[in-house]
Amino acid sequence: MEDTFAFIIHPINIKKDVARKFPLLGKLLTEPQINFFSRYFPPVYLSEITGIRSAATGRELRGWLIACPFTPPTMMSVPVETAYKKIVACGHMAEELGARILGLGAYTSVVGDAGKTIADRLDVPVTNGDSYTVAIAVEAVQEAAREMAIPMREATVAVVGATGAIGRACAQLFAGDCARLTLVGRRLDALNEVRELCEGQLADVSISTEMSAIYDADLILTVTSAVHAVIEPQHLKPGAVVCDVARPRDVSVKVAAERDDVLVIEGGMVEVPGPVDFHFDFGFPPKKAYACMAETMALALEGRYEDYTVTREIELSRVREIREIAGRHGFRLAGFRSFGEAVSEATIANVRERATVRRKTWSPAL
Ligand SMILES: NC(=O)c1ccc[n+]([C@@H]2O[C@H](COP(=O)([O-])OP(=O)(O)OC[C@H]3O[C@@H](n4cnc5c(N)ncnc54)[C@H](OP(=O)(O)O)[C@@H]3O)[C@@H](O)[C@H]2O)c1
Repeated sequence: MEDTFAFIIHPINIKKDVARKFPLLGKLLTEPQINFFSRYFPPVYLSEITGIRSAATGRELRGWLIACPFTPPTMMSVPVETAYKKIVACGHMAEELGARILGLGAYTSVVGDAGKTIADRLDVPVTNGDSYTVAIAVEAVQEAAREMAIPMREATVAVVGATGAIGRACAQLFAGDCARLTLVGRRLDALNEVRELCEGQLADVSISTEMSAIYDADLILTVTSAVHAVIEPQHLKPGAVVCDVARPRDVSVKVAAERDDVLVIEGGMVEVPGPVDFHFDFGFPPKKAYACMAETMALALEGRYEDYTVTREIELSRVREIREIAGRHGFRLAGFRSFGEAVSEATIANVRERATVRRKTWSPAL
C-alpha cells in the first residue's frame, strides 16, 4: 500500500500568502477584508507533493498540501468550535485524497486543544508536528551557539513563551544543557509549574513576566502564539542569538533593520530527503519543509499511521523518538535563514565582529 500524507497550512503573511494561490484576490483585497471573507471560504486544495524518498528504505511518499482559509487573527478570534469545523473540513479533504496521516500546520495546531478534538473527529490519524519542532528548534539553537562560539554549558538561555506546548518542552531540554535558564511568559503560576519541571538538572532556573528579562541571555528561543511581534531591538544584548520558532514571527522586523550585532534565525526549517517537489511555493527554498511538516512525512515513511503528537503535553520520549525516526529517513536541520534570507558564514562573522565593537558602548534602553 502506498505511503501518503496530507498537511494543512494557512495564510500567515496574509496578502502575500493569499496571492500565492489567488494572485488577484491577494492584490485587490485588504487584510481586514481577507480576515473577514476567510470565514466563509471552504478548504482549498493546493498541490500534490512528490519525490520524498527515505534515505533508509528508498520508499517514496506522496502527499498533498491543503489550505485552511483562516488567517491568524481569524483563527484566534472565532469561537474554537468554528475553527475546529474548518480544520475538520480540511481533514475530510485529506481523507478523500487518500492521505493516511494528517499534519496540522501553524495555528491549526495551536487552536483549542492542539489536535486532540480534531483527531477524535477524523478517521485519518493526526499529528500537530510539535515533537519534531521541539527537536529541531533545540538543535538549531545548539548549532547556532557553535557557529557564534558561545559554549552552551556556560550560556544563559531564555525561552519566551515557556508556558506553551513547544516552549515548555524546549525549556526542559535546555535545562540539562546550559548554565542559566530564564523562562519568560505571561502567567506566574504557569511559569512556576514549568520551572519545577526544569529544576534539578544543570541550569539555575529563573522566571519572569517581563520581556526585559531576556536582556542577559546569550541564546533565546522564542515560541509564543502572539499575533504580533514581541521581541524588539532594545531587548537584545550584543552578540545574542535568537531562534524564532513562532509563526507569525515573534521577532520584530525592526531587529533586522537596527541590530546587525545579533543573529536572528528561523527555527524549524528542515531538509527533506529525495527529489521533493511541493508544486506550491509556501515561502521556503526548494526541498525544505517546516519541522512539523517533516514530522508528518517521517511518520508516513516509518509506517506509523497513528495519532502521534495531539496534545499540549509534549512527551520528551516522543521528541527523542521522532528525532531518531526522522534522522534515519534522512531529514536534517537545514541551513539558517533570517527574515526569509539565507544566513552565510560571512553574515555570522560580521555579527560577531559588530557585537565585539558594540559591547564597548552598549547599554540597554529598557
Ligand atoms: N516553525 C514550526 O515548524 C512550527 C511548528 C509548530 C508551531 N509553530 C509555532 O509555534 C508557536 C507556538 O506554538 P505552541 O503550540 O507552543 O502554542 P501554545 O501551546 O498555544 O503556546 C503559546 C505560548 O505563547 C504565549 N502567548 C500567547 N500570546 C502571547 C502574547 N500576546 N504575548 C506573549 N506571549 C503570548 C502563551 O502564553 P500563555 O501560556 O500565557 O497563554 C504560551 O506560552 C506558534 O506561533 C506556532 O505557529 C511553529
